[in-house]
Amino acid sequence: MISALMSNYGNPDLEFERGEGTWLYTPGGERYLDFTTGIAVNCLGHCHPELVQALQEQSTRIWHSSNLFRIPQTEKLARRLVDHTFADRVFFSNSGTEAVEAGFKMMRRYHYSRGDAQRVRIISLTSSFHGRTLAPIAACRNPVHIEGFLTGDPGFDQVPFGDIEALRAAITPATAGVILEPIQGEGGIRLTPFDYLRQVRELCDELGILLMYDEVQSGMGRSGYLYAYMASGIAPDLLASAKGLGGGFPIGACLSTERVAAPMVAGTHGSTFGGNPLATAVGNAVLDVLLAPGFLDDAMRGAARLRAGLADLITRYPGVISEQTGLGYMIGLKCVISNGDFIHALMDERVLVVKAGGNSVRLLPPLNVSVAEIDIALGTLQRVCERLATAG
Ligand SMILES: Cc1ncc(COP(=O)(O)O)c(C=O)c1O
Repeated sequence: MISALMSNYGNPDLEFERGEGTWLYTPGGERYLDFTTGIAVNCLGHCHPELVQALQEQSTRIWHSSNLFRIPQTEKLARRLVDHTFADRVFFSNSGTEAVEAGFKMMRRYHYSRGDAQRVRIISLTSSFHGRTLAPIAACRNPVHIEGFLTGDPGFDQVPFGDIEALRAAITPATAGVILEPIQGEGGIRLTPFDYLRQVRELCDELGILLMYDEVQSGMGRSGYLYAYMASGIAPDLLASAKGLGGGFPIGACLSTERVAAPMVAGTHGSTFGGNPLATAVGNAVLDVLLAPGFLDDAMRGAARLRAGLADLITRYPGVISEQTGLGYMIGLKCVISNGDFIHALMDERVLVVKAGGNSVRLLPPLNVSVAEIDIALGTLQRVCERLATAG
């Protein structure tokens, strides 16, 4: 029978009816080790008890009231994000792409409010991914994502990743700012060099334009830092967050400094659901766990174990995988064979990983994955590499 769902996600076969920690269970009771975490969303695994409790408690009080009224836990979450980052202000959305869109609007509005209304263009880097609504697809220019969707000049420019001179040359009196991922996700897990980040920051300051980081995927502890930019110490003017922020409950946020937020006076932007009480109750519970002393240190000890095991596999099976990339638990594995074949071979062994650009796969375990689960993943990866190496 033809599905009533649109075909834009293809036709996945696997179905899960239950999740617990790092494991997903099919209706037939088969269990899979989940190193996809809903594409870097379930940062504390499935049905984490503290998140379940926060959601259940909130669900008996109030689900939704809208931004017509104050929402204490939403103010609390904003305050905590401000206290732990470069930011002074937060706008909540429901998704990553909306957080990015909010940032694009804020960049334009900032210059407009300073009498520089012609500064509207935003520069992105090649192989970036910022979401699927019109402005982010226009920014990223992925031919598959834009075909049939864009007309005219939507106001974005793109420069090669890591090339500071190309960026300098692309900046004109019409440029409002630059957006980049401190660690590229969909494009293939790629760490943006700290030196380049520093040069971009200096260039933006020199030319009076804004720097926005997209940490929708790299944020919320995945890099070992609350946000990956903290590894470099180079702060942006704006930052988009989502995915792990709700640990599985939809929420996004655009963080910014006061000077960029100031022109966003009442009526300039909004969202019916953004900052919804259920979402921010869970967001606060996520932060309770993530910011607990020692939590991220423990997570990064696990990441080091996983990475050491992967390094060993790369040495032993150079015909299957050739390199690991990223930071912390944001791990890319470059495949020598087809990444699709590698993913399917792992799926046959009930380990789930995600595809990424550059013929790579992403390993995105929950941050609280156990040592035993890491070893199960490594054991399966070893068996799969052995089989694929022999088959090749
Ligand atoms: C870096 C980055 N930005 C933006 C997005 C879009 O987020 P969402 O799918 O929640 O709109 C994603 C999603 O994968 C992402 O990885």
